[in-house]
Amino acid sequence: GHAEPIVIRGIEYPRDSFTNVTPKILSFIGKNKHNQEKHPLCLLKKRITNYFYTRFAGRTGNPIFSMYDSIHPVVTVHENFDSLLIPKDHVSRSKSDCYYINEKYLLRAHTTAHQSELISMGLDNFVVFGDTYRRDEIDSSHYPVFHQADSVRLCNQNQLCMRIQNEIEVFEKKPTEEFSYKQPEHTLDASKVVEQELKAFLIGLTEHLFGKGIQYKWTDSYFPFTHPSWELEIYFKDSWLELLGCGLIRHQILKNVGAGDRIGWAFGLGLERLAMALYSIPDIRLFWSEDPGFLCQFDVEDVNKNVTYKPVSEYPPCINDISFWLPETQEYSSNDFYDLVRSVGGDLIEQIRLIDSFTHPKKGTTSHCYRIVYRHLEKTLTQEEVNQLHKAIELAAAENLQVKIR
Ligand code: PHE
Repeated sequence: GHAEPIVIRGIEYPRDSFTNVTPKILSFIGKNKHNQEKHPLCLLKKRITNYFYTRFAGRTGNPIFSMYDSIHPVVTVHENFDSLLIPKDHVSRSKSDCYYINEKYLLRAHTTAHQSELISMGLDNFVVFGDTYRRDEIDSSHYPVFHQADSVRLCNQNQLCMRIQNEIEVFEKKPTEEFSYKQPEHTLDASKVVEQELKAFLIGLTEHLFGKGIQYKWTDSYFPFTHPSWELEIYFKDSWLELLGCGLIRHQILKNVGAGDRIGWAFGLGLERLAMALYSIPDIRLFWSEDPGFLCQFDVEDVNKNVTYKPVSEYPPCINDISFWLPETQEYSSNDFYDLVRSVGGDLIEQIRLIDSFTHPKKGTTSHCYRIVYRHLEKTLTQEEVNQLHKAIELAAAENLQVKIR
């Protein structure tokens, strides 16, 4: 029945009006593809970790950064949003964007959710890898479960001066106004030093992964938890690809967890996007494939070896449209439909696109038409199989979303 609590790792979470996580999505918890030996996401994790370890080594060559790759994806709304100063009315909190377990818990929408707690534990240098969950469109580069890496590096006044062999102040005696290029609490000098170190570190990482010839550019960006903020884009296969977001951590965040004497940077990146570019993986669903034809291509001794994925062969797509009237008496978002299609069709769905939206001039009712592209990654689908699936999707949509099939 619907009132039964959601059970994850033996812990019961009561349902409420926020609950929107589906059994299909819950089934991904624990798969931890980034920890599966010889999986492309795991190779990439190791490559990134190696870069951290060699770039910042201690006196005896010991790693300075702590690496976490097994933090559980169930987090509180406080961890995912409040602790990062994300405003109460920010769109990223909405039920149509996140998988809520209930009002208090959700599946993390970014690995940044762990930043405050790790800092409060006393860590100054760390990197977190993990699975992340977001309701989103469906196509070859989006999947509701994906993986991220997040990193933080902090220092206090002394450490910063040591690093640059120069005496500078980190904090203003009295906060200034906020400028586009620095926070009120930081001196311009300190802010610039941290910015430079961050950018040099990330360029180094990009070159470590893609080689020295890679073309890149910085663009100004915005995140509630960093200021200033940037995005790093690389020029790859004839277009600019957003690789990561980064910036100087908001002073308020550090103060809230007892690190108000520190300044530092943070960045976060999506592992699939990076791996798709690095290994020429054409479809994000492949990261969930158990097919040995896929996995064996990443069975390398040396993680730094460049692997170029070769598709075994491509099976033909099957295209089918579906049209329905939206319900008049309850909320509807396209993401509700996408989740339903995923639950019924699983990985046979390559893409869904809203191709037409029509509002009846007199009645005011709205109808949507979606185009569904069906494609199996490892065989040819028969028309019969697709028709059955399509029918099942129509039935489930009529039943669960109260839409009227046209
Ligand atoms: N959490 C951000 C995202 O998911 C990335 C980010 C992390 C940006 C840390 C800045 C600092 O897009």
